[in-house]
Amino acid sequence: MNSHTALQETFIHARSYFPSLGSTYGGHPVLFFDNSAGAQVSKFVIDRVTDYYIHRNAQKGTIFKRTADMQQVIVDARQLAADLIGAADHREIAFGQNATNFFHLFAHHLGRDLAAGDHIIITEADHHANVNPWLELAEQGIHVHTWQVDDEGNLDMAHYRELLALKPKVVAAGWASNATGTIHPMKEIASLAHAAGAFVVADGVQAASHMAIDVKEADVDFAAFSTYKIFGPHMGFGYFNRDRLDRLDGWKIGRELIEDAYFFEVGSQNHEGIEGFIGSMEYLAQVYRDAEQNGLSLAGTTLSTARPKRQELAGAMHFAHLYEQQLTRHFLDRLAEIEGVVLYGKGAASAEERLPVFSFNIEGIDTDALGHALNKAGVEARTGNYLAIRLMDRLAGDFGGGALRISLVHYNTIEEIDKFFGIVKDCLHKLSR
Ligand SMILES: Cc1ncc(COP(=O)(O)O)c(C=O)c1O
Repeated sequence: MNSHTALQETFIHARSYFPSLGSTYGGHPVLFFDNSAGAQVSKFVIDRVTDYYIHRNAQKGTIFKRTADMQQVIVDARQLAADLIGAADHREIAFGQNATNFFHLFAHHLGRDLAAGDHIIITEADHHANVNPWLELAEQGIHVHTWQVDDEGNLDMAHYRELLALKPKVVAAGWASNATGTIHPMKEIASLAHAAGAFVVADGVQAASHMAIDVKEADVDFAAFSTYKIFGPHMGFGYFNRDRLDRLDGWKIGRELIEDAYFFEVGSQNHEGIEGFIGSMEYLAQVYRDAEQNGLSLAGTTLSTARPKRQELAGAMHFAHLYEQQLTRHFLDRLAEIEGVVLYGKGAASAEERLPVFSFNIEGIDTDALGHALNKAGVEARTGNYLAIRLMDRLAGDFGGGALRISLVHYNTIEEIDKFFGIVKDCLHKLSR
């Protein structure tokens, strides 16, 4: 089997682990194309959550075995998150409500070390989750600068260098866009930021559901992720580079909280969700084993020398990214057949620099009406700005700052894409009559 076919075999089979993917709507098989908002979960997650409620449903801080087992689950889950993103170990991970909450926590803690007159850089490309918490610091007299994008939605590196001359204390940037699917050069962003003396806070939410990421290789200081976009329950987790925490004065206040609560994990947590997250990692490990059986290998990649669990989890995401590139190329080819399409972000010439997340409008067609017509035909996809508010205003201003977004992940198929374009054709025919 060549690698193209092995990837197809692996990921068409991966689909069978998801009980929700065979659903129908009004007699139509559902095409679930809203994955950038949140992915479906596999049976591994469902089984884990059920098992939690039967065997480990307990609160922290007692001597019961049930509690000890539950607390071990949290440490194990943190370790798996560390393996997935390449953190040193479980002590660099905290679970919490969602990614947005982590950005607020990071801004709160980093903000304690900032003074009026200090500078922060945010980007025009980011989801508002990594924008608002920093804008709030402007109320303390901190200057918050927006790093602009070019006409294709790419971060403008020349503008970044200009802003770095201000010697900012923080750079908050996304690893990949939830609107255009563009992958940002996080390693370069972080290295330039560090040279200017800034901490880097990365939004890893979109990147982590499509590709293997490595927080150490990219050398970011803080990052946040949504577990529900990585095929798990509705929660998030944060990464913080422990070696850098000592540089923060404000951090030392409340350091005694670190022991049990890992500082960011104060208060009670969503234990059932954390156990469900373990299920999502068991799923990725299974995908990795399936890929290996189909002859795929990590030889020649940096993951080939990684610790074994990281090989499985990040390895599955590495293969997912390769497979998703097949989906991306096919989707872009089919999209080009539609007259009047305005796609935001990178086109077919640079397909490998993007994720299969496609935002577009069609000249002469009301995008919301198209969204409704697609939904009636069983396509679950959204219209709007997906909270990438500034980016969509900049790119899709002519269409009111919104677009239709089709966001695919590795359990989607070429066949689904073809079905989708058949439905689009019918809808356009009806809408333009
Ligand atoms: C890039 C990006 N960042 C942040 C978020 C917010 O994540 P959460 O719901 O976990 O706060 C999203 C959600 O769509 C996103 O796409």
